[in-house]
Amino acid sequence: MVLAARSVSEIESAAAEVRQRRAGGAGGVLAIACDVTSEAQVAAMIERTIAEYGRIDVLVNNAGYSKQCPIADLSVEELRLALDVNLVGTFLCCKAVLPTMKRQGSGRIVNVVSGAGKRGSLRRGAYAAAKFGVIGFSQCLQLEVKPDGIGVCCVCPGPVDTLMRTTNNPGEDRRTLLPPEEIAEVIVFAATRGPLTVIPEIEVRPRGFVAF
Ligand SMILES: NC(=O)c1ccc[n+]([C@@H]2O[C@H](COP(=O)([O-])OP(=O)(O)OC[C@H]3O[C@@H](n4cnc5c(N)ncnc54)[C@H](OP(=O)(O)O)[C@@H]3O)[C@@H](O)[C@H]2O)c1
Repeated sequence: MVLAARSVSEIESAAAEVRQRRAGGAGGVLAIACDVTSEAQVAAMIERTIAEYGRIDVLVNNAGYSKQCPIADLSVEELRLALDVNLVGTFLCCKAVLPTMKRQGSGRIVNVVSGAGKRGSLRRGAYAAAKFGVIGFSQCLQLEVKPDGIGVCCVCPGPVDTLMRTTNNPGEDRRTLLPPEEIAEVIVFAATRGPLTVIPEIEVRPRGFVAF
């Protein structure tokens, strides 16, 4: 397993937790510092992963960025940053694993999107543009890699109790939010289906946010 983000201390401590939980179990855990907006850093991360494990069964594109702001006040830099982390980062990581997954004739890609990637919402113009983009990109990718035995799934959570949500929505009652562990379990489900199953999309909402 490889954990990647820019903050080394956070991925190191997550890796230590995984090692502890697996105590005696199979497989190693690597923490690799990587900015997903950098093609060179993504290439280096994938190269190191292959050198260590020789294969890539699952890619989870979870890195994300959201700063809420009305479109009238949105700067082009903010829009570009949201597109860069959420959409370009997903593209770069997918592209980097494709040669290996194609060679294997198997692989699962899980792109973490958002309910904001399915419906317009207030103050999320940049984030929605990026996340809608990830869904379209994922559908195109699925068609292209179907002959290679690769599955692509978009997981679209509603509000989750993480730093992103609490920073953008201070003072919100956190008991109304989805626990991150629930989303992690959905991602594992999507990533571990058999080769004959394709799950294009899973949407998850907290009970209080059910609306159609
Ligand atoms: N929280 C929600 O309500 C919610 C709802 C729907 C969907 N989502 C999606 O769920 C995913 C996880 O979000 P979260 O809520 O856990 O957000 P978060 O608390 O802000 O965490 C974001 C994660 O992305 C990493 N990251 C950000 N920019 C990166 C970059 N350029 N390169 C590599 N890693 C980067 C961060 O690590 P570093 O800063 O160390 O790089 C951090 O681990 C995102 O895709 C988000 O859009 C969240």
